[in-house]
Order: sequence, then structure tokens, then C-alpha cells
Amino acid sequence: MRMKTKIVINCALPYANNSLHIGHIAGAYLSGDIFNRYSRISGHEVMFICGSDEYGTPIAIKAEKEGRTPMEIATIYHQEHLETFRKLDIEFDYFGRTTDEVHQEFSEKFFMDLMEKGYLEKRMIIASYCAVDKRFLPDRYVNGTCPNCSSESARGDQCDECGRINEPQELINPRCAICGNPIDFRETDHIFFTASKLDSEIREWLQGKEEWRNNVRIFSLNMIKDGLKDRSMTRDMDWGVKVPMEGMEGKRIYVWFEALLGYISNSIKYSRIRGDENYWKEMYSSGNIYYFMGKDNIFFHSILLPAMNMASGKYPLPKMVTANEYLTYRGKKFSKSRGIGYTVNEILEHVDRDSIRYYVSSVLPESSDSDFTLEEMKEKVNSELNGKYGNLVNRVVTFAAGKGIVPKQGPMDDLDREVMEKMKQSLAQYREEMDRIEFRKALAIWLESVKAVNTYFNQSKPWDTIKTDRDATASRIWHSLKAIEYLTLMIYPFVPSGAIRAWKTVHGSEPNVKDEMFSHLGSDCDFHIKESGIIFSKIEIESEGSNQMHLVVGKIIEAEDHPNADSLLHFKVDLGTKVIDLVAGLKKYYSPEKILGRKIIVVENLKHSKIRGIESQGMLLAAQDSNGAHILTTDEKEGTEITLGNEAYDDSGTIAIDDLKEYDLRTDVSDGKTVPTGMLNRKRLILMANGKPVSVDGNVESRSQIR
Ligand code: MF3
Ligand code: ZN
Repeated sequence: MRMKTKIVINCALPYANNSLHIGHIAGAYLSGDIFNRYSRISGHEVMFICGSDEYGTPIAIKAEKEGRTPMEIATIYHQEHLETFRKLDIEFDYFGRTTDEVHQEFSEKFFMDLMEKGYLEKRMIIASYCAVDKRFLPDRYVNGTCPNCSSESARGDQCDECGRINEPQELINPRCAICGNPIDFRETDHIFFTASKLDSEIREWLQGKEEWRNNVRIFSLNMIKDGLKDRSMTRDMDWGVKVPMEGMEGKRIYVWFEALLGYISNSIKYSRIRGDENYWKEMYSSGNIYYFMGKDNIFFHSILLPAMNMASGKYPLPKMVTANEYLTYRGKKFSKSRGIGYTVNEILEHVDRDSIRYYVSSVLPESSDSDFTLEEMKEKVNSELNGKYGNLVNRVVTFAAGKGIVPKQGPMDDLDREVMEKMKQSLAQYREEMDRIEFRKALAIWLESVKAVNTYFNQSKPWDTIKTDRDATASRIWHSLKAIEYLTLMIYPFVPSGAIRAWKTVHGSEPNVKDEMFSHLGSDCDFHIKESGIIFSKIEIESEGSNQMHLVVGKIIEAEDHPNADSLLHFKVDLGTKVIDLVAGLKKYYSPEKILGRKIIVVENLKHSKIRGIESQGMLLAAQDSNGAHILTTDEKEGTEITLGNEAYDDSGTIAIDDLKEYDLRTDVSDGKTVPTGMLNRKRLILMANGKPVSVDGNVESRSQIR
């Protein structure tokens, strides 16, 4: 007998400063929702809570950049997150906001409570201060020269060039990232969480969590190898929860400190909405608390939050902290800002929610990073979800309906017994994996079971038996539908909408997925077949294209008027490895003297063509607006390869002018700058040289064509 219990499930609160991409979904939210749905149909009472994480520096920065208030940014993305989750069938009981009053109050109270218990302590520190902007600066807002590699673009927290972790004081010529002026260092008070007092308690607690995956438990123990450190829990900024103490007016509570409290504050809010103030206490008292997150959030959930809760002594520690590794796109971490991979909304334009959920579930990065590709998604969805499962349901139902067979349970023969036995076994294995949060393994068991039921249906040949024995055939159909019922419940947590459609097709009515469902499998239910509609549809997506433009930085080493044409110039261009002849229609906008020595971007693999007697061995790119032509240019060395976003030239050989048109090269605004862009796989990407956007000569209008 399985015990029914109360379970609290939380997914890391997403920052309200950007769109959710498929990497986020694979990291935290899909797993949380799978566990939520599975737990409910297992008969547990579940409280599934999440919300937007709305404070902190990234949101303040984004707001500043876009000329909006942080609250406006937070509201835009909060709404978008709600919508994204809805479209993906990720169904929280409540999805709140950290700017909610309930959250503010709770965070302040929690803070003061730790203060009274002696776990918060005022300490003076030396911090970066900009006298021009009259503000203290977060470490990442300080620029300077790296003491290690002398890179001039190091930040106060880290140098991206050599990877060194810096302190702002260590930088040579530290400057303010906002106004560029030199900064100084001033004394300021901050409130520290004396977590070091809890060092051994946390360590012991983690030691005992043997059922956790190593990527969380061993990783966490490693992080505190040298001791659990005290950390400042306040920041000098104005977008955040106020520090409820005198003398702390310009400071806010550290965003992680309060965001982590969002799990409880949102539960409190949810309880009020339910009209049952104490509901959350009841749920929490079970101690069955599960956190789902991406791996970059581990420290906060396995160490900081537990330490905070130990210090307060009021709230239970999590039973399970589950972190997924990264879902990558062509080997790189998904990133909206760097244009790697897809946002949920981009994928939803081409693929339905069931297909996305199915594919992402099958590649969940549970034990190592895994790669996402559209081709694999198409292949898996079409051959497995649609081809094996959807098709099976359709075949059984269409056959029975077509022959007017009313499914009726009769005596089992060997085939029936075998398939029913197999289903029971598979279900048991599946539930073991699900209980251990090994969702990929559970899904593999499901797929294997689908294959077994297909084999059973094929071997039993009801289309033959119906000619001689209608009763036996009706029983066969009944057992086929029963087997399908197993498959449908097993796939439900992964692909809820499709599973509900399948259930309706065989039962004529909706399943009650808010309650225990598995016991239904043992029942002698009647089936009421509805003429099958479409349960799953095939996905049709073209294969992904690759970048066929070989764009290279060239330097103009000779320039002259074209001897036979009024509007053309003739150049010799150094491409690093060779020098080529190039003809360009730029004479109206650039004189030979003005353009000599400049760096340009050349399409190196364009078919050569003779233009008024001179063979042009490539083409230079320029943007055309109402004021004229502007060459694309860069400071990078001649010979440098230009990428489209992160996509390098695919080495596929010569292209024609018409092929170039498919990339729809034009200027666009990104982060307030006009940059050259092109389309690849329905995404607009920036032309980059060594990871930096290529520039356009002079002031160019946005959306100008590039030729
Ligand atoms: N906003 C954080 C992120 O997206 C996660 C915060 S989890 C919380 O990485 F519990 F602290 F809210
Ligand atoms: Zn400044």
C-alpha cells in the first residue's frame, strides 16, 4: 500500500527580466510540473508554488537601459512568464511576485527575527563608491585593468578574459561602469548573516542526504570544504526589499535572501486566496518539500536557505533538492542575451506543447548536460509519441468503432495475460523511477511498454479473429484498451494535454487528474469509445540551415576609381591569407583616399564575376540607407572570420548572390546600438567578429538593407 501524504513542490523563481527559454524549462519547470502531476495522480495532496523573482541588479540594469522603471520591467516579464507556463501546461497552484506586499512583510519579519536570534550582525566594509553618480557600486559595476592578465575590460567581480575572480580593490584604474569616472573606496555598514555558526549543522545535514543526487550533495559539500562563510545580506541599491532598521535607508535586502523566502511568502498568499490562512503550515509540516532548479542555483537551495531556516528555527528544511544540469544548444548553454537556442515562444510558433514537453522530457539533463536539436525533436515526436503511442490508440479505436465492436472483458488468453503482466511490471518500475525523480528513465520504461503493446495488438490480429469470434475479439479490444490506459496514465505527467485527449477517446469522458488515478488500472471499467479525433499531430519543421556565408575581415591595401565605370571603385584587399581584387559600387559615398586602409567585411565565397572588365573575387558588405552607403567594419585583424550569432561558416563552398538574399542582411537595434544582422533558422542574429558585433561606418538608420 502506498501512503498518501502532503507534498510541497517549488521551482526556482525565474527572474522577471527576460523571456524564458527552453533551457530554463529543462532546468527546473518541466521537472517540477512532471512531479506535481505524477504526485497528484498518485493520490498525494500537492501544493505547487512558484513566482517571479523581481528584485535585484539585473532587473534594475535592464530598466535603466530601456528607459523604464524596474517595476514596469518586472510586470512585463511576470505577465509573460504566466503566459509561457500556461502555454506549456506548467500548472502552478499559485505563481506570485516578490514585489507583493505579503512577500515584503514576510521578508522583513524573517530578517528581524534572525537579527533577534543573533544570526545577523552589522559590520563595516570597504566598498566601491562613485562620487559622480553619488552611489555605491555593485562589484560588477566596476571596470578596470585585470591585475592578472592586464585586460582592460575586467570587472570588479571577475575578468572575462582570464577568468580570475577579482575584488574591485585589486583592479588597476578602477572606474565606474555607469559614468566611466575613477571610483574611490568608502566605508559602509552592511548586515552579515553569521552562517559560519551553522557550519557543522549544515555539513551533517548534507551528509545525511544520501538519497540526493551527487550533483547536488557532493557538489554542496565541496562548496563548504573550507567552511561555511558569513555573507553580507544587504546591498547598496534602491530596487529591493527595504532593510527594516534605522541607518540602513539606502540599502536593500540581498535579492537571494528575500527571493528564497518567496517560497513561503507565496504559499502564505496562496493560502489566503484559498480562504484558509493556515493551509501552508499544514502542508509544510509534512516536511515533504521538493525544490527543482538549474545547477547554477544549487548553493542557494542546498546551503543558504537551509541555513536561514535553521537559524530561524521555524521552517522545515527540504526533503529533496533536485538540480538539472544544462540543456545545451549545439554544445553551448542556452542564452537569450547571446542569441543561443530558442525561447519557449519561438518554439511554440512551430511546435505544439505536447511535442515540446515530450522531447524535452526525453533529453532532460538529469545526470549530465544534454543537447537540444530541432531535428531530434521532430524525429522523436514523430516516431515515438505520434508514431508508436498515438498511432496505437488510433488503430485500436478506429478498428473497434469501424467494426461496431463494444469492448467487453472476457476470459484472458496467454497473450492477454502476458501483456497485462508486462504492464503491471512496467508501472511498478516506472513509479520507482518517478519517486526517485529519474524522469528520463521513467519515460524510457514507458516507451518500451508502448512497443510491447504494439506487438501484442499486432500478434493478436483482431482483424482475423473478428471473422470467426466476435466475443473473443471484443475481449481482445477491452484488454488492448486496458493496456492503453496504463500507457496513458504513465505519459500523463509528461504530456498532459495529449494524455487527456487519449483518455477521452477511449472513455468518452475526462479523467479526474486532480485525484488518485492509478487504482483505476485495476478496475473492470467499461470503455466508451469515441470516434478518434487527432491525439497527436506530426511536427513539420524544415531541417535547420547552417551558415553558408564565408565572411572575412579584409583590409583595403590599394584603392582606385574603376577605369571603365563611373560609379565603381576597384580595390586590392588583404584577407590575411591572400590578396583579392574587389569591385564595389561605392564611388558616390567613398573616395579612394578615404577608404584606403580601412577594414571591411568581405563575402569570400561568392562566385567570382567580371564587372566591366575586372574580375571581382568577392563582395564587400555595406548598409544602404536614405543618406547613402555605410561599409561594415571592425577593429579585428584581417582574416578574422565573421559569425552569424554563434554560427560559423559551414565550409560548404561557393554561393551566389541569390543565396545571400535568404539571410536578409540588414541593420537592427540591439542593446541600444545599431548592428548588422542576418536571419538563420527563423532567428535574427548579429554579425560578430571574435564575439563582438561588427560595426557600421557612420550613423546608419535601423532596418537598412545590407548588400
Ligand atoms: N531568479 C533566480 C534564477 O533565475 C532563481 C531564484 S530562486 C529563489 O536563477 F528561490 F531564490 F527565488
Ligand atoms: Zn560613476
